[in-house]
Amino acid sequence: MSASSFLILVGSFSSMISTLNFTISPPSLSLVSQTPSGASPSWLLANPANNSIFYATDETETGALNSLVLDHTTGRLTSVASIPTQGGSPTHIGLVNNGTQLGVANYGGGSAFFATLESDLLHFKSPQVVSFTDGGSSNAHQVVPFGDQVLVSDLGRDRVWRLTQDASSSWSIQDSIGQPSGSGPRHLVVDDNALYSLHEKANTLSQQTIPTTPLSGDAQPDSIASISIIPSDTPSGANLFAGELLLAQSPTPIIYASNRDDPSSQGDAIAVFDINPLTKVADVRTGLKHLRGVALVGEDNAYLIAGGMNGGGIKIFERVSADQGFLKEVASLPAGVIDQPSSFVWV
Ligand SMILES: *[C@@H]1O[C@H](CO)[C@@H](O)[C@H](O)[C@H]1NC(C)=O
Ligand SMILES: *[C@@H]1O[C@H](CO)[C@@H](O)[C@H](O)[C@H]1NC(C)=O
Ligand SMILES: *[C@@H]1O[C@H](CO)[C@@H](O)[C@H](O)[C@H]1NC(C)=O
Repeated sequence: MSASSFLILVGSFSSMISTLNFTISPPSLSLVSQTPSGASPSWLLANPANNSIFYATDETETGALNSLVLDHTTGRLTSVASIPTQGGSPTHIGLVNNGTQLGVANYGGGSAFFATLESDLLHFKSPQVVSFTDGGSSNAHQVVPFGDQVLVSDLGRDRVWRLTQDASSSWSIQDSIGQPSGSGPRHLVVDDNALYSLHEKANTLSQQTIPTTPLSGDAQPDSIASISIIPSDTPSGANLFAGELLLAQSPTPIIYASNRDDPSSQGDAIAVFDINPLTKVADVRTGLKHLRGVALVGEDNAYLIAGGMNGGGIKIFERVSADQGFLKEVASLPAGVIDQPSSFVWV
């Protein structure tokens, strides 16, 4: 039996994590509760092994990683443990090493931080840092598992680092997959051996093949495709900042790429791509301003939630067919209910 409602947690640049309740039919979105959590809990992660356990960053100059337990009845969270991320402005948390470790991207610190989860999945041990600042100014942005390896997008160094673990469980840089100079790779999606990189500064989505063996010297994989995510009716010269990148596998693989600060009166857009070959098939205007957090939610990723940090509120779109326009708005929360929403997770 499928659920008639589900909860969604909202990260933000305020001090609050908010809990929303989405009722499927008729569709409606409501605020259930808010829980104070450190400072700027901008990124949230669910642990797929236990639907009460979540992690949040403090995206601050010192940086911290926190674990929390959700009460499904009240929507409230209880903080359990916190550990410094040994680098400033942690922007993202990824579950790596087959669910046994968390990896955090320190944007300000130019590093990736790893912590092993205790068996309760709530306490942290064996912290480790891998720095990317040797040779340039790094802004690590996301930590993505790739088999037993880890990929880290580096917006400052214009590369995607590949890390491997040695026998003593210590991570180090194996090689890196180059991105165009000045493009600013922000978020990644991996599908089999295909790497999709969304470039914050260039507003492009690229596709490359991740090599199975380590890259040596100046060797680099071919670029298979690189496509602008800027809508054709956006005024030229607009200063946009690509945001989130998502892959939904069913019913057919679709990639969503969002951008921020589009001057259009219809707000920021989400670009929709078919893969194989990578082709942009639509730009969906959202009415949101500074669209930062976007996530797939619900069984079979039936819905997409998106939030405007500077206006438009939070909206739920049903993922519909191409002839219905790909994304159909079904519910929303007005601007101001949740301050500075930046990320979402499906409970
Ligand atoms: C969410 O909404 C449903 C009704 O659609 C209700 O039954 C449920 O109790 C709500 N959950 C919370 C945590 O408020
Ligand atoms: C999930 O974690 C919570 C908090 O530690 C715990 O109370 C609960 O028993 C766990 N659930 C499962 C299925 O392990
Ligand atoms: C990954 O974790 C699962 C569940 O704990 C386990 O069954 C599986 O053997 C692990 N895989 C590897 C490669 O360690």
